[in-house]
Amino acid sequence: VRNPATSAARRARTSRFRARVVSHGSVSVRPMEERDLEVAAAVVQLAFGAFLGVATPFGDRDLVRTRFRADPASALVAEVDGHVVGSNFAAAWGSVGLFGPLTVRPDLWDRGVASRLLVSTDELFARWGTRHAGLFTFPHSPKHLALYQKFGFRPCDLTPVLTKGVRDAAGPAGSRAAAVRFRDLAPVEVDEALVSASSLTGASYDGLDVGREIRAVLDQGLGDVLALDDASGLAALAVCHVGAGTEAGSGVCYVKFGTARPGPGAEQRFGRLLDGVESYAGAAGARVVELGVNTARAHAHRAVLRRGYRTSFVGVAMERGDDEGYNRPDAWIVDDWR
Ligand SMILES: CC(C)(COP(=O)(O)OP(=O)(O)OC[C@H]1O[C@@H](n2cnc3c(N)ncnc32)[C@H](O)[C@@H]1OP(=O)(O)O)[C@@H](O)C(=O)NCCC(=O)NCCS
Repeated sequence: VRNPATSAARRARTSRFRARVVSHGSVSVRPMEERDLEVAAAVVQLAFGAFLGVATPFGDRDLVRTRFRADPASALVAEVDGHVVGSNFAAAWGSVGLFGPLTVRPDLWDRGVASRLLVSTDELFARWGTRHAGLFTFPHSPKHLALYQKFGFRPCDLTPVLTKGVRDAAGPAGSRAAAVRFRDLAPVEVDEALVSASSLTGASYDGLDVGREIRAVLDQGLGDVLALDDASGLAALAVCHVGAGTEAGSGVCYVKFGTARPGPGAEQRFGRLLDGVESYAGAAGARVVELGVNTARAHAHRAVLRRGYRTSFVGVAMERGDDEGYNRPDAWIVDDWR
């Protein structure tokens, strides 16, 4: 059921930002196309480089081509006078909607370009029927917090991104969890596995579905998806990117999303999942496992710390929705929404 107050607020925001954008000339937003990729990727590097004060903030990680190819219709570009000056990437995870990285060319900051991109992002969420929306941002930046608060997102718990060396992670031989790898499955088996994955994620948050990320990994060869079974069916799942040209970067196995079935025994299932990830990372030639876990998922956060993961940096989850989403103590989920 659509909340009329929320819809009215959205309409007001939309007309305000449309008016402002017009006053700055010809800023327009449209779906990204293949021909935009090079410039969009350059703007992403430039914008984060300027904000963070580093030349190559992403190294050889790629969030632009991978996310565009995952679903071109959910990638947006902003144009000024026919030039691409910014972009944003939304993602539908079933009932959950996420976005980022949102970037604008630094010489055009503070002129409403990002706000215009967010108006169009909101339209995507409305079309998808997103129930809970979220993003990862810099908790120390008044500008970032204010920008997203304007669109109804509230700063919630911190999301640390943590790493662990694969050599430290290896553990005693024989303790490795035997995970099924989706890339070894036949197409019809993948279809079945996607259905099981959807009911596993839905057990933590109604309607949560990371099928898009699973397909992206398989279609683009970004890494692999690990599945662990037990007597009750699918017990745990991890969507992993590995190496250059993915969201991980050279030498890294990045857990884009991981979860264990909640309820009694969840901690053991979660431990088995991380065993499987660490073992896969080593076999795939990664030196480091990287993952994020919101601190509101208190049990999962404590469990990764106990396994020797160390925080490399910290973001904040900003969220919008009538419920608390899945950043809750009983959700055994690993992801960071970057
Ligand atoms: C963050 C970013 C996308 C914003 O783009 P932008 O086009 O400058 O943003 P907008 O002009 O639409 O909106 C910025 C808002 O923040 C407000 N703002 C700026 N500094 C502020 C401050 N110190 N305190 C409060 N509000 C502030 C502006 O006034 C404006 O709000 P208004 O429209 O109500 O006036 C851009 O700065 C960028 O690319 N940064 C580097 C990459 C990055 O950090 N991306 C986001 C990662 S989560």
